[in-house]
Amino acid sequence: MNLSVNGRAHEIESPAPTTLLDVLREELGIHSPKVGCEQGGCGACTVLVDGEPRRACLMPVAAVDGAEITTVEGLGTPDDLEPLQAAFVHHYAAQCGFCTSGLLMAAKAYIDGGGTDDREAIAEALGGHVCRCTGYVKILDAVAATARGDQFDITTTAEGQYTTMHTGGDS
Ligand code: FES
Ligand code: FES
Repeated sequence: MNLSVNGRAHEIESPAPTTLLDVLREELGIHSPKVGCEQGGCGACTVLVDGEPRRACLMPVAAVDGAEITTVEGLGTPDDLEPLQAAFVHHYAAQCGFCTSGLLMAAKAYIDGGGTDDREAIAEALGGHVCRCTGYVKILDAVAATARGDQFDITTTAEGQYTTMHTGGDS
């Protein structure tokens, strides 16, 4: 079996029934897709399969033979964040971060598909993604900001919000 992951071709050695999640994490060492419920219920393992968000814990790798897979590692870099990643930082949409990879990939598909800043539409696109830190409002803020094309300097903005938070401001 063969996969293209973040633009790089891989020949897969794991047995055909191995989940895509295990192939990514254990065989290829790509750790942004998280192991949550492993039952399709939490969204932490979500990656893009040919541009569509899919739960990697439910997919035998044989079912995606030849597919193009995108994970968070295929988005921006620390020095050059993808707009969605920058928006998550700016809006404090990640707390523990465990859900964040899956949410970023679902949001990426939404934005790439021409999604708007309509909060109900965003909530629907992110439906079924569980954030145990309950950061949902800020996640919606981040995706809406990306859809609008908002620009921000995450270095100064994050610092400003941090200062506000820790001086009892209204953040
Ligand atoms: S780990 Fe795949 S949906 Fe929860
Ligand atoms: S940020 Fe902790 S689970 Fe969502």
